[in-house]
Amino acid sequence: MAKFMLLGGSPRKNGNTEKMLDIFQAAMAEQLPGVEFERYFLENMHIQMCRACLTCFRTGACVFQDKVNEMVATLEQCDGLILASPVYYGSMTAQLKAVLDRIGLIAEAHDRSLRGKIGGSITVARRWGHLATQAELMLWFDRVEMVHVGCGWCSATSTNANNIDTDDEGLHYPVRLAENIARLMR
Ligand SMILES: Cc1cc2nc3c(=O)[nH]c(=O)nc-3n(C[C@H](O)[C@H](O)[C@H](O)COP(=O)(O)O)c2cc1C
Repeated sequence: MAKFMLLGGSPRKNGNTEKMLDIFQAAMAEQLPGVEFERYFLENMHIQMCRACLTCFRTGACVFQDKVNEMVATLEQCDGLILASPVYYGSMTAQLKAVLDRIGLIAEAHDRSLRGKIGGSITVARRWGHLATQAELMLWFDRVEMVHVGCGWCSATSTNANNIDTDDEGLHYPVRLAENIARLMR
């Protein structure tokens, strides 16, 4: 059965990023009945930053005792990964960057174990920076040799009220992303 990992990079528990992931998850479950999800909310996980010791290349595991080794093992069993981030000063959040640096390096040490898996990227912002952040996420997928699936840039904008509920077009993108991923998998 197909399995996807969903990584939410916002520190806000029930915020816009999590809402976009909820929409994606529901749409994906409709597209591929029985599909399984491994979902992570990074804020609670106290992710350390890569210290470039390269222990992962010698032992296959990161020296830090947080959840990242387990996440890589889980991701290696998944068909794909969805990355979702709010835009912070024109970029993905530091939480997400920290985990992607480490997942990327450990996977590289595991003979580039993410090769050929499916990737999707979601961004939310109040106003500016979607494209730069989408580009960062897409380039990460490219670097780890995953296949990024497009849907016309999966992004929603909150404007002044800081919630995305009025962005009907943005709220539909995760549905389209799920449709396109399901189409590829079929
Ligand atoms: C530190 C910080 C930096 C931000 N930088 C930007 C930015 O560069 N562009 C933008 O449009 N919104 C920016 N925002 C707003 C968030 O991207 C926006 O509120 C987003 O919807 C938050 O998602 P969340 O509800 O999942 O946390 C920033 C917010 C914070 C807290």
